Amino acid sequence: MNGIQDGVAVVTGGGSGIGRQSSLRFAEAGANVVVADVDEEGGHRTVDLIESNGGEATFVETDVTDSEEVAAMVQTAIDEYGGIDFAHNNAGIAEEGARLADYDEAEWDQMIDVNLKGVWRCLKAEIPEMIERGGGAIVNTSSVAGVSANGSAHYAASKHGVIGLTRRATVDYADDGIRFNAVCPGVIDTPMVQQAGEDNTEELERITAGIPAGRLGEPEEIADAVVWLCSEDASYVMGQPIIIDGGLLVQ
Ligand SMILES: NC(=O)c1ccc[n+]([C@@H]2O[C@H](COP(=O)([O-])OP(=O)(O)OC[C@H]3O[C@@H](n4cnc5c(N)ncnc54)[C@H](O)[C@@H]3O)[C@@H](O)[C@H]2O)c1
Repeated sequence: MNGIQDGVAVVTGGGSGIGRQSSLRFAEAGANVVVADVDEEGGHRTVDLIESNGGEATFVETDVTDSEEVAAMVQTAIDEYGGIDFAHNNAGIAEEGARLADYDEAEWDQMIDVNLKGVWRCLKAEIPEMIERGGGAIVNTSSVAGVSANGSAHYAASKHGVIGLTRRATVDYADDGIRFNAVCPGVIDTPMVQQAGEDNTEELERITAGIPAGRLGEPEEIADAVVWLCSEDASYVMGQPIIIDGGLLVQ
């Protein structure tokens, strides 16, 4: 992919699932990667996978609910690799089941703090450094729950919010040469979904049967879109929520 080689990418939630695969894909395309995650073991594992493939990566333990840690994450990109060109703001949590009136305020706050405000904290730290560097490209992970009534209300609200941030940032920073897009994965075979599937096998079977592709998505299928969106091949794609869902939402 054009324009990724020798760039610097920061990936949150890089220690598992979709973020691990986008970290690997950025590295395969020739970028230096800062893998950020609250999970130290998972993050180091991603770095090991990249290095054993001949790529270059650094892990930085980062909780996206902590502004200072997010600032330190961006600083790591500067200290290790001289700046930041690409970001995949992807760290997120999900919760199954409860209807809007059945979860409490603490659960609402936690969901919004990680999934929505976490993306905002990352953008706030990344954008000034990209402006300094003359531009960049950012992909935020939303969800099919960001464009439809899938998922619980607080998850859906957080993921709708991510698209709002992506659109507004596009308008605010187009003149600075920064492009923003979002990916909206359907049901992807990652630990997040595997855990939910273990808790409720029948529900996962029912969901899978309702996907026109007839299967769950693979994290690589999201990661490829993330790296493409950051590449020069996507130079005119701005502010878009890109739905990658095996046809789930067209029905
Ligand atoms: N798997 C799916 O079906 C699916 C569908 C739509 C959207 N998504 C979104 O994709 C993103 C990645 O999910 P995944 O499926 O790869 O899940 P995952 O659980 O495999 O990975 C999520 C990663 O985020 C990290 N994380 C969680 N909270 C964090 C925090 N506060 N700070 C830093 N890191 C944190 C976890 O440690 C984990 O490594 C999430 O935003 C999720 O909402 C997933």
